[in-house]
Amino acid sequence: MMRRAVLGGLFRSGAASASCCARLATSVAAAAASRGGVTGSSSGGGRREARAVAVGAAAAAAVGAEAGARLESLPWAHTFVNELPADPVTTNVVRQVEGALFTPVQPTPPDGVPYTISYSAQVARLLGLDPTECERPEFALVMSGAAPLPGARPYAACYGGHQFGQWAGQLGDGRAITLGEVVNPATGGRWELQLKGAGKTPYSRRADGRAVLRSSLREFVASEAMAALGVPTTRALSLVGTGDKVLRDMFYNGNAKMEQGAVVCRVAPSFVRFGTFQLPVSRGAGEVGLVKMAADWIIKHHMPHLEAEPEPYLGLLREACRRTGRLVAQWQALGFVHGVLNTDNMSILGLTIDYGPYGFLDVFDPDWTPNLTDASGRRYSYRNQSEAGQFNVVMLGNALLAADLLSREAATEALLGYSEVLSDTYGQLMAAKLGLKEYDRTLAQELMKMMYTDDADFTNTFRALCDVGSSEEGGSEGPAGQQLPGRLAAALNRGQPLSEERAAAWQQWLQAYRARLRADGTPDAQRQAAQRAACPKFIPRQHLLQWAIEAAEQGDYSELEALMQVLERPYDEQPEAPAKYSAPPPPEMEGRPGVCMLSCSS
Ligand SMILES: *[C@@H]1O[C@H](CO)[C@@H](O)[C@H](O)[C@H]1NC(C)=O
Ligand SMILES: *[C@@H]1O[C@H](CO)[C@@H](O)[C@H](O)[C@H]1NC(C)=O
Ligand SMILES: *[C@@H]1O[C@H](CO)[C@@H](O)[C@H](O)[C@H]1NC(C)=O
Repeated sequence: MMRRAVLGGLFRSGAASASCCARLATSVAAAAASRGGVTGSSSGGGRREARAVAVGAAAAAAVGAEAGARLESLPWAHTFVNELPADPVTTNVVRQVEGALFTPVQPTPPDGVPYTISYSAQVARLLGLDPTECERPEFALVMSGAAPLPGARPYAACYGGHQFGQWAGQLGDGRAITLGEVVNPATGGRWELQLKGAGKTPYSRRADGRAVLRSSLREFVASEAMAALGVPTTRALSLVGTGDKVLRDMFYNGNAKMEQGAVVCRVAPSFVRFGTFQLPVSRGAGEVGLVKMAADWIIKHHMPHLEAEPEPYLGLLREACRRTGRLVAQWQALGFVHGVLNTDNMSILGLTIDYGPYGFLDVFDPDWTPNLTDASGRRYSYRNQSEAGQFNVVMLGNALLAADLLSREAATEALLGYSEVLSDTYGQLMAAKLGLKEYDRTLAQELMKMMYTDDADFTNTFRALCDVGSSEEGGSEGPAGQQLPGRLAAALNRGQPLSEERAAAWQQWLQAYRARLRADGTPDAQRQAAQRAACPKFIPRQHLLQWAIEAAEQGDYSELEALMQVLERPYDEQPEAPAKYSAPPPPEMEGRPGVCMLSCSS
């Protein structure tokens, strides 16, 4: 009863149209009633609840202390739906959509009672949304698709793609629905909000358009962790449970089970993909004009500096190639493996997009891929990501070429930019990871070989090298020559002592490394600080995600919150963080379903 009175107060101060509010109010009341007066977040773990209450109280005490819009008054722009051709058919049935770049479609409300599991205050601020808005019960409703978000104009985008090297025809947003774009008035930042798992669209093919807690949590964590690591990525505003059960066969082996439904609200400047440009071309002369329209829209709103260029479409291809090259280099330097680098999963803005069966390397194995069924081909393994990226930019170039937007010579030249930027960036990043002024290819490759031979933990080996002192006698990590620095030893051979011969090989490499550091002459303390800013201590390891998922499936979100907190500052030492957050997987978690092999069935 009391809760409802408070909500009434909130609604009166809202800026949106009365009808939207009325709809929201009705669904909140219904939700509350069906739960005996309790709403949303109260089903969560103790920690999260405590935080929710504390933030709520603070907000009540200092109304308007934090600037930002309310949910009902987001600054919508809607240029995508206003400027690009829409599907004239609006019935939400699976079909081929022609002559359009999107179909207007509403989220399908879940049957259950949605509840907010977690949200990112940082992303709320990017949007110009007051973060305390995420604590409102209505937030779970609009971010699960249970109630319409006032001012939104939802749609599913139409695109195609190459899947595992084969042209797959029309794909499109099969379980993602974009709510629209907002422009943050304070920063000018343009952001699209997209619900993943909010029901079927004309592009759902045989799927149900829903997502499960397991995969949604993985996407939520990775989006924010990658941003904190400094990698271009789509972001995530929220993780909301739908209260529904969804049937999933995680490994496609006939063992389907009911899982909890969830929705992530993804946020990016644009979700346009390489496949957006490919599909119209595949349909022939009648549709090829859509390629130019999509390109013009991207240039106008996301690469306005190209408008003044004599060949803006060439500029677009160049920019996409460079950004993709840089992105793949960053993945390689971090040991990140995307897992499904199909052209429909490639952002034209060079963002990491579509977190499905992704993973970070634990033990260094260049052939590793998180996709169990890709095991024989290794198409999307760690090692092959640079080639996969190359294939994808070539497909993008082909589409722009087929649409007559540039010449073959110009396209070829632009495509070279991909590998140039990739190798330059990779060299810079590896130099930074080793604390060197310049990339030393021999030293780096020798290190990688040794890491492979000795089952080194990728992340922890680089972090351990930050401790190494440059003097011949070694540094604070211990005397050189006798035994390996402790942190390094712990990162090798799954923590087991090395054979004498292998230990000697590492000593020898360390000698060469120290000599190289001395030649550079940067004082140790200064070099080590910079090096630590290139070698993260904390990454979302598969088993950490799995722990957070297992707890969350029991309604305990404390693991998730703790993990998110650690991952916010991945390069800081955070001595207060429990050791488990930087440790390699314990033996019992290696090879666990969901840990080293994942399907993207989500
Ligand atoms: C990547 O693209 C494929 C289609 O090519 C799609 O089925 C899959 O869901 C996408 N991956 C993710 C993680 O969304
Ligand atoms: C894994 O790779 C195979 C091709 O090698 C592909 O057919 C399958 O769809 C992939 N699975 C996922 C989950 O991406
Ligand atoms: C690596 O990727 C390229 C391009 O995507 C592909 O042609 C090649 O077969 C891949 N390699 C493996 C081992 O799958």
